[in-house]
Amino acid sequence: MQGQHAQMTDAAYEIRRGEIAALSADLTPEDPIPVVEYTDWEHEVWRTVCVDLIARHRTDASTEYLESAEQLAVPLDHVPQLRDVSSRLGSISGFRFQSAPALVPLREFCGGLANSVFHSTQYLRHPRSPFYTEDPDLLHDLVGHGNVLASDRFARLYRLAGNAAARVQSAEALQFIGKVFWFTLECGVVRERGERKAYGATLVSSYGELDHFRSADFRPLDIKSLVDVEYDISTYQPVLFEADSMDEVEDIVGSFWDTCDDDSIAALLGGTRTPS
Ligand SMILES: [Fe+2]
Repeated sequence: MQGQHAQMTDAAYEIRRGEIAALSADLTPEDPIPVVEYTDWEHEVWRTVCVDLIARHRTDASTEYLESAEQLAVPLDHVPQLRDVSSRLGSISGFRFQSAPALVPLREFCGGLANSVFHSTQYLRHPRSPFYTEDPDLLHDLVGHGNVLASDRFARLYRLAGNAAARVQSAEALQFIGKVFWFTLECGVVRERGERKAYGATLVSSYGELDHFRSADFRPLDIKSLVDVEYDISTYQPVLFEADSMDEVEDIVGSFWDTCDDDSIAALLGGTRTPS
């Protein structure tokens, strides 16, 4: 970002991020989502990223992502209030947001999904690096996840992931459910008319990821093939899994989450269960 706000110091940024995180630090699920008075630099980051991403989405995002995003109609020219987007999302697909101060633990995050709740941050990334954030921020959570949660199919898949996580006891099973989530709902790619299109939240919410994802080593989406693949959320993904259609994603991943348990995942991993 070329604006004056790119000069913001790390210390000033951390203070601001801390202020916003503090608003949701002690909230219960029943509490309303806090209203944040966003500043000029935050609106500028939002506009900068959204304008660029929307242009990229026309060529790089999957049809279902685009259609779902159109339904939710998140504003591009200013940072929206999470409570307003949550209300709109609820009326479309039944999902809603809950404000979180930071990344929530996997079991808690998945527990929310089972109840049609997505934990979202409310702060924005550093204005010095608007196109990259290692931690989830409001842009990632709304442009990446919120936009697909307006789709009945995606909402169903997110709920299935949450239900699967609630069903298992072992740490290994939970981690594997999280890995399937990572390679699909975070980094999934689908072929449309011979072209690779992104539907995963990490890809569609990052200009850099959209630049890089077609250079990945692509493998056909298959649950067993995920077992031996490791991933690092702090870098561009060297290996991605692609499906021939969203029906195939739903068949493979939805069926897995719908039926998996500790024993079936232990068998898949070829190991023994250990308590969480
Ligand atoms: Fe995410």
